Amino acid sequence: MTGASCAPSVSIQGAAQLLRPPSDGLPHLRGAELAAQTLDPGCVAVRAGRIASLEADPGADVRIDASGCAVVPGFVDCHTHLPFAGWREREYEQKLAGVPYEEIARRGGGIAASARALRESDDERVLAQSTGLAAEMLAAGTTTFECKSGYGLSRHGELRALSLARELGHRVRQRTTSTALLAHAVPPGQTADGWMDVVRGMIGEVLALGGVTALDIFVESIAFSNSHLEAMGELARGAGLALRCHVEQFATHGSVPVALSAGARSVDHLSAMPASDIPALARAQCAAVLLPIAEFLGAERRAPGRALIDAGALVVLATDANPGTAPSVSMPVAIGLGARLYGLSARETLGAATLNAAWVLGLERDSGSIEVGKRGDLLVLDGPVEAIAYRFARSPVAIALIGGELAYVRDERAAARITGAAVAPRITGAGVAP
Ligand code: NIG
Ligand code: FE
Repeated sequence: MTGASCAPSVSIQGAAQLLRPPSDGLPHLRGAELAAQTLDPGCVAVRAGRIASLEADPGADVRIDASGCAVVPGFVDCHTHLPFAGWREREYEQKLAGVPYEEIARRGGGIAASARALRESDDERVLAQSTGLAAEMLAAGTTTFECKSGYGLSRHGELRALSLARELGHRVRQRTTSTALLAHAVPPGQTADGWMDVVRGMIGEVLALGGVTALDIFVESIAFSNSHLEAMGELARGAGLALRCHVEQFATHGSVPVALSAGARSVDHLSAMPASDIPALARAQCAAVLLPIAEFLGAERRAPGRALIDAGALVVLATDANPGTAPSVSMPVAIGLGARLYGLSARETLGAATLNAAWVLGLERDSGSIEVGKRGDLLVLDGPVEAIAYRFARSPVAIALIGGELAYVRDERAAARITGAAVAPRITGAGVAP
């Protein structure tokens, strides 16, 4: 995490495109507000870690020549499963051969396999993998991300996963949040109802850890039901936490209305959600978090992303980075696939990946858009915003600032845009931050 107060002053000057919300102070961008963001030429000055003005500051400690570049807010990845242990590439081979996710789980693979891997890895090994992924995320523009537990699958395991998430937050450049995904899979030897009793009994310990902002649950035939979702909603309300949920990922269970009446802050996945749920979701104070990497790699159906935006919904894009369904931590990949799968414009994908994602994490007053007073979490891209989805297999990020500090400078060409002292040591030759 970054200490913003001692950050140098920074002036980003002459950007060809500066992404701005349609008006200041919006908590999120619903429907047509996404496309109403502006992309005019502009400058940003950052002082003490915060955006100080939308004008150049020739006296700033660090000056960045952004000519020919787009400047956008840092990506907020509001749905990841970091920290986790190892990968599950052999399962992907099985999936490509036609074995469904549910069947892989019944055979002892899936979430249970990652739970075993986590149990067998010591803390340092888990943290080494996750800090490496965080560096990859930074090189792809993610300046804030959510961590989830969910591979603990026991009281002790879940508390350990949340402690690892907190430790990860101390070791990476980005700002992180923690979500307790306490109902992810039914632990071996348990029933779903029995496990929910365990969950009920551990909320106090989860709160005592500090830093957890949301509870999460996976509703699916192999996992938990709508009534467990209702119960998780009550627990979240009682604990003062947000409710997140994995719903309608593989099959339709009618979970969106249940999530809305349980007060969910977000419904995530939605690949199998019925069109009849669109109007209620579009009216609700609840985000539709679309996860196009998991959808592209593993779902039969497509979330109604375009229809949700057209109906006025609060649409979000995230990676879902996890070893099972979404083995990529790249927001540009999520943006590129999201643009293609749902038919979204560059402005729409960017609002979904920044301010709307910040709202899901409760960080919208502080992050997610280029507005005076917000944190200096900014990306200088090496071309126009339209290139992000078009060339989605590469990172468009030349320079990333977190809390006004130079957190990532891609190469010598990017460095040549920067005038000011402490720059050279930040360059990482391989294109991946330390
Ligand atoms: O978001 N669906 C539930 N959770 C994850 C997958 C977890 C895994 O397969 O390891 C998801 O897709
Ligand atoms: Fe997920």
